[in-house]
Amino acid sequence: MNDFRINAEQIGAAAATLRDGGLVAFPTETVYGLGADATNATAVAKIFDAKDRPRFDPIIVHLADAGDLETVTTHVSPVADLLARSFWPGPLTMVLPRGETIPPIVSAGLPTVGVRVPDHPIATQLIQLADRPIAAPSANRFGRISPTTAAHVSGQLAEHLDGILDGGPCRVGVESTVVDLSGPRPRLLRHGGVTHEQLQEVVGPVEIHRGTQPVDQAAPAPGMLARHYAPNTPIVLVTDPPAEPPGPRAGLLSLTPPGSTDGWARIEVLSETGDLVEATAGFFAALHRLDDAELEQIVAYGFPETGLGVALNNRLERAAARA
Ligand code: TXA
Ligand code: MG
Repeated sequence: MNDFRINAEQIGAAAATLRDGGLVAFPTETVYGLGADATNATAVAKIFDAKDRPRFDPIIVHLADAGDLETVTTHVSPVADLLARSFWPGPLTMVLPRGETIPPIVSAGLPTVGVRVPDHPIATQLIQLADRPIAAPSANRFGRISPTTAAHVSGQLAEHLDGILDGGPCRVGVESTVVDLSGPRPRLLRHGGVTHEQLQEVVGPVEIHRGTQPVDQAAPAPGMLARHYAPNTPIVLVTDPPAEPPGPRAGLLSLTPPGSTDGWARIEVLSETGDLVEATAGFFAALHRLDDAELEQIVAYGFPETGLGVALNNRLERAAARA
């Protein structure tokens, strides 16, 4: 049962707002996006202002259909074609040579463009009706916790939006995996909803870009700034399950139920059975709840470093980083 509080008419109105250069937040299977007409530089500039996003951080362009890829890139390589057929619609972003329809501001001046086809009926209809590619970063303020519900979006960005489509909670729960295909070999820039293992099953070895160093002069390692996805409450990462809370108002974020619940002011368990798909779907919502619980600190226990656990650990590390 979907909890959609929207209808086709509302999606049509949102699409018209996008065509007029407005900002519309919409659901995708990963997280909510803050959308603007990707072919309209002025509309895209509003995204950077609304999010307080540095102009050096490029934005992903969303298509309704993989068949539209040639409208935003100059070259679809065999690997890009294979990945598109394997993972679209879905949580994979490919970095490809940028086509002339996409103004430089979208890609922070880079000669490339990040593209994906989201797997969500509302996103698909919205992009179809807007009849153009839609630029959309995650709909949070820069560096803050990503939004997986419409309430998360309005909590951070309400005054900047011309509209929001509420499609209920996002199914996947972390952002798309970003793969750079602009060089000689595929390179994974950001872990996300498609795992490294899944990618390698399709295209063979995929190198992982590590660290927070710039990929090139023009851009920082995209989506890879040290501090990101951050709650206001300090967050501490631990490698072993904590035996007891470190202080009186501590919250615990844990994959599975802890051995003891004594003394914790709040506990968020992501999956009773340790299922990483379920844990990923609830991850950002649990962080939002912990951050809203007026705690002195959040203690988070790392995930198994496999499959979606890699994407979750990556976000925890960045949420816990101090600068
Ligand atoms: O799942 C997602 O990808 C969500 C939904 C809304 O689609 N979007 C999202 O966007 O996570 P954002 O802006 O929060 O993160 C996009 C990341 C950025 O860190 C950006 O640097 C990288 O993708 N990216 C975008 N275009 C790029 C490009 N041309 N070259 C390298 N990296 C790029
Ligand atoms: Mg983001």
